[in-house]
Amino acid sequence: MWWAALLLLSSVGVASCPGRCLCFPSSNLVNCQSRELTRVPQRVPHGAWLVDLSRNRLTEVQGHAFTGLWSLRILLLSNNSIHVLEPQSLSSLQFLETLDLSFNRLERLPPDFSQSLGSLLELRLQHNLLVHLAPPTMDRLENLRKLDLGHNLIRTLEAGLLNRLGHLRYLNLEGNRLSVLEDGLLARQQRLEVLRLGHNNISLMESEALAPLPALNLLGLRGNRLEHVHFRVFLGLRSTSSTYLQLSFNPWTCDCELHRVFGKIRHVRYLRVEDYEEIICGGPATLAGASLSSLDGRLCLAETSAVLVITLTVVLAVICALVKAKRSSASKRSVPDPLGN
Ligand SMILES: *[C@@H]1O[C@H](CO)[C@@H](O)[C@H](O)[C@H]1NC(C)=O
Ligand SMILES: *[C@@H]1O[C@H](CO)[C@@H](O)[C@H](O)[C@H]1NC(C)=O
Repeated sequence: MWWAALLLLSSVGVASCPGRCLCFPSSNLVNCQSRELTRVPQRVPHGAWLVDLSRNRLTEVQGHAFTGLWSLRILLLSNNSIHVLEPQSLSSLQFLETLDLSFNRLERLPPDFSQSLGSLLELRLQHNLLVHLAPPTMDRLENLRKLDLGHNLIRTLEAGLLNRLGHLRYLNLEGNRLSVLEDGLLARQQRLEVLRLGHNNISLMESEALAPLPALNLLGLRGNRLEHVHFRVFLGLRSTSSTYLQLSFNPWTCDCELHRVFGKIRHVRYLRVEDYEEIICGGPATLAGASLSSLDGRLCLAETSAVLVITLTVVLAVICALVKAKRSSASKRSVPDPLGN
């Protein structure tokens, strides 16, 4: 009798569990990790709350692959070889909160990518082959808190891409190919706390690129190609707690202007350069390899002395002119009047 009941129970479990996966009906977990799967399995139980398909051999996610999984909150697809997300492949995931697509081979995201993902809180896309992202790819991710796009091949993020993501707290773009941080890309990021832009190819930050980021705590810009930066770029950072800046491993041109910019940054109460001691000059040639903090005051010395020399020259010239004028007027006065009056 008990044996029959057990058989019945387990067969219910088996019937609604895809082959090669382990299903835990009591907790609604479906574990298909490392099963050499080449397709998203069918027959995933509809009550599943977490489906783990990581470390398989998926190359694409077919349309409607997750149809009917209304309870799904966490979907793990990392460490596959996914290079195609077919249209509608993520439809009916209205309540999904975490989507992990990291360590795959995605070169692009379909335009309808976010269509059903309005509840998503965390999206992991790091370690793919993404090159370019444009709206409306992310338009529906209105609740997203955490977006990881690190270690892709991203060269451009089109203006407006992130405009609907007003709840974003964490944005990782480390290890990409960005060369310009453009005005407007982050214009709606009122809640962004962490912005990681390290190890890109950034040589230019447009003057409004960081404006306004009133909640930012960390701005990572290590390992880029910055030689100069204008102080006004940082004026959009007005966090009530401090904003920590990471600026080392850039080929900074150490001149008086740079000295002044860093001087101003370090005077602003809410800005902190976390790695100031590690900032090394990339140029000019005579200063390459020296640390900015060791040069500090000296950078403006040449300029100060040039100003002094110029001032002295001007003063001398004026004195000379005055003396000359005086002499000539004196000699004029001593010339006898030719008319004899
Ligand atoms: C995916 O692969 C990376 C690199 O090999 C590894 O660091 C990571 O832990 C893996 N993740 C999972 C869920 O297997
Ligand atoms: C880095 O940016 C410069 C232009 O600022 C460009 O010429 C160069 O090709 C870029 N390098 C890479 C690896 O993308």
